[in-house]
Amino acid sequence: MKKLISLLLVKIIFLGVLFADEGMWIPILLEKYNIADMQKKGFRLTAEDIYSINEASMKDAIVIFGGGCTGELISPEGLLITNHHCGYGQIQKHSSIENDYLTNGFWAMSRDEELSNPGLKVVFLVSMKDVTEEVLKDLNSEMTESDRNQTIQKNIDAIKKESIKDTHYEARVESFYNGNQYFLFINEVFTDVRLVGAPPSAIGKFGGDTDNWMWPRHTGDFSLFRIYSDKDGKPANYSKENIPLKSKKYFPISTKGVEKGDFTMVFGYPGTTQQYLPSFAVEQILYETDPARVMIRDKKLNVMNEAMNSDPLIRIQYSAKAAGVANGWKKWIGEMRGLKRLDAVNRKKEFEKEFTKWLDTDVELQKNYGKLLPEYQEIYTGILPYNKANIYINEAGLGADAVVFALRLRSLETAGTISDDLLEDLKNETLARAKVHFKDYNEATDRRIFAEMMKFYFEDMEPEYYPSYFNQFEKITKNSNDRYKTFADYVYDNSNLVNEEKFDKFMQKFSSKSVKTLKNDPVYSIMTDMVSAYQTKVYPALNGYYSRLDSLDRIYMKAQMQFQDEKVFYPDANFTLRITYGQVDGYNPADGIEYLYYTTLEGIMEKDNPEIYDYDVPVKLKELYETKDYGSYADKDGKIRVAFIGTNHTSGGNSGSPVVNANGELVGVNFDRNWEGTMSDIMYDPDMCRNISIDIRYALFIIDKFAGAGHLLKEMEIR
Ligand code: ARG
Ligand code: GLU
Repeated sequence: MKKLISLLLVKIIFLGVLFADEGMWIPILLEKYNIADMQKKGFRLTAEDIYSINEASMKDAIVIFGGGCTGELISPEGLLITNHHCGYGQIQKHSSIENDYLTNGFWAMSRDEELSNPGLKVVFLVSMKDVTEEVLKDLNSEMTESDRNQTIQKNIDAIKKESIKDTHYEARVESFYNGNQYFLFINEVFTDVRLVGAPPSAIGKFGGDTDNWMWPRHTGDFSLFRIYSDKDGKPANYSKENIPLKSKKYFPISTKGVEKGDFTMVFGYPGTTQQYLPSFAVEQILYETDPARVMIRDKKLNVMNEAMNSDPLIRIQYSAKAAGVANGWKKWIGEMRGLKRLDAVNRKKEFEKEFTKWLDTDVELQKNYGKLLPEYQEIYTGILPYNKANIYINEAGLGADAVVFALRLRSLETAGTISDDLLEDLKNETLARAKVHFKDYNEATDRRIFAEMMKFYFEDMEPEYYPSYFNQFEKITKNSNDRYKTFADYVYDNSNLVNEEKFDKFMQKFSSKSVKTLKNDPVYSIMTDMVSAYQTKVYPALNGYYSRLDSLDRIYMKAQMQFQDEKVFYPDANFTLRITYGQVDGYNPADGIEYLYYTTLEGIMEKDNPEIYDYDVPVKLKELYETKDYGSYADKDGKIRVAFIGTNHTSGGNSGSPVVNANGELVGVNFDRNWEGTMSDIMYDPDMCRNISIDIRYALFIIDKFAGAGHLLKEMEIR
């Protein structure tokens, strides 16, 4: 009886772990699990309005934008809004010293000024369905994990092939609940996506990496693109003949704004979360993985920032790279703090204690799940050195651009085995790639990064992972008082791959005989050795552990669901379309501090500092502020609201996602989370976790008043 009571208690306590607003839900299961709750919290539409098989619904207005963001349609003519940081790569690629769209912004004043972006894709979800049964058929309990995987893969391939037969669609099958459930996604992919508008970085990236991941925030993080189709509305590669996509569905825009407590919903593509990990895994993230990555990136960023501050050209070249490096770096710092504050490892341990007690109540449970936790412990202990090597090779070993560039030259090794014509093609291809690479490359900066990275590699890694070139370290650096710098100088001075002139010259004359020179090139040789250390010493071991983890994770997920059988579990994010809903709300980040749920233009003026790149407010914006030329975009109190926060449970990939009010109108565009809440990928805390959105009225204000691109507003439905 006592056992029963304590178990019941545990169930209740941990049931409570799924807090209000936590969760990323599956659009076709809303009717079953969420819509009643959503409506109770204020939502006025139906599940069918969000996802419908028969009618155009909200999901038809949402795309995967590029590799890892979300975007949404806001006009009948294929106009799309996403974040500035999501369009950043494109804006940057179109930028040069003469046409510096990063600094000055870009606005197409007519359709023919819109800029095409080769390689950029957007993906619409046509439909999705549960295919668990078909994926898991022909499996039996005797199978090894690898036989099991092979059968699953075979089934998935068949499902995909069948599902898109005779269509121009693409298919994706994804695992949910760690392999306990599978869904099929039918997608339509458009490849002619043009840049329409982007504010200057001083607006779109206001606060830069200083304010990144932080609240209060004043970033106008949006950009505009347009999807084009062929004359029949079908996807087509860029062509002058293409026409703006006729949107099946687009979001109407509300200029009413949001108030504390208002219902909001975010609909987009969160990338990865890990909510159901065992304590051992969380411990490793917190004390090994995050610290190592942060330490290495710290150094890399120091060099990049110094170089960017010293030269405007380097700023253009390195801003996108540095932003990428800084983003993970800062997130992991926040994640470590959050996990510590939540005492996440011990909470997981407590949970595991109760879980183990539950197993002890039943022989069958004990038989099925009794070995889970001990095996997890063994794996996480065993994987530790490989995890470290993996991080060091990826972050430090491949940390300098020249090394990554070298990695992509490996096809040149085939020179002796292919025809002259093919070799000529290969050379031309390589030169074209090099041109792109060197556009955003500064040799002196890269040398310094290389020196710092090799220092980490040399000092922290086991010698078994050293490239053979390190043998010469002593000799090369004998009389130096800055040995890694000397080593880097030696390597770069003797490499053909580290600047455009040397490389072009090397390529012009490249023949089968040059393969040897390539292989002896110091940068190339270091790259080769590290890659081979990875392939022979790290990957096989990691892969073995990962595949054991896959199977444990699947079983542990099932066990947790059985243990807490009254709780509705949401599956971890896997870059499929999800709904999260919550309400507009501030929070208390620390004792004695209370954060409001919105920011205004006044805050931008407070932060203004022409000396600091991240806070250099554009003159035009100051004028608009002085004259209060706000049009109809101000709030009731006459102020321009810039950003707001809410309790929606989002993750990386939700950038650019529509933030929708109770009527299904667009009120914001999601672009970040607060620093105190970045551990929500592993453990959500309703008191601390907030998503950050740009107030859509700020975007409209910038488009209309700042950029003078009011013609774009005419195609939107503004309510
Ligand atoms: N933290 C946001 C996200 O994860 C924004 C990143 C881009 N901005 C930046 N300053 N690096 O993607
Ligand atoms: N900025 C993130 C992104 O690019 C969204 C913020 C988050 O991780 O929640 O997806």
